[in-house]
Amino acid sequence: MRHRSAVLTTAAALAGALALAGCSDSGSTSGSTSGSGSGTKKAELSVSGSYIPQPVSADMAAGFLTITNKSGSKDELTSVSSDVAGQVTMHSTAGGAMREQNSFAIPAHGQLVFKSGGNHLMFEKLKRTPKQGQTVTVKLTFAESGPLTIEMPVKSATYNPSTGH
Ligand code: CU
Repeated sequence: MRHRSAVLTTAAALAGALALAGCSDSGSTSGSTSGSGSGTKKAELSVSGSYIPQPVSADMAAGFLTITNKSGSKDELTSVSSDVAGQVTMHSTAGGAMREQNSFAIPAHGQLVFKSGGNHLMFEKLKRTPKQGQTVTVKLTFAESGPLTIEMPVKSATYNPSTGH
């Protein structure tokens, strides 16, 4: 399918832009077990290091960020949306192949990392093309915590967060 191959091409370009930094193997199947005596505790989530490389494609962009959970309660990222995209999907990458996931676990006292070559967001059906220097408003929805709305900066197409350019 045409759309699928466009997605794969974009991912290959992204993976090629940076040395593969090792795939984290999250994106476990969404087992909604809540048997850990959680009570009313909520995850305390914060987002850091978010960015969108300026897309090379007119209809698709990738996004990266880290979600940190400071609490002792696990949570789950269940959906992502943005006003610039008709749809935002969440993908894992393993062995060079990416797979769409319905949710990603955020462990207690842990992190969920989206980075080039690994997990990533995919902004599809773009309504406008994000340009370097702009920001994109993105809403993250979780299973337990309230939604978070963040402004993701648009960086250069070859931006590398470890060098800062
Ligand atoms: Cu993808």
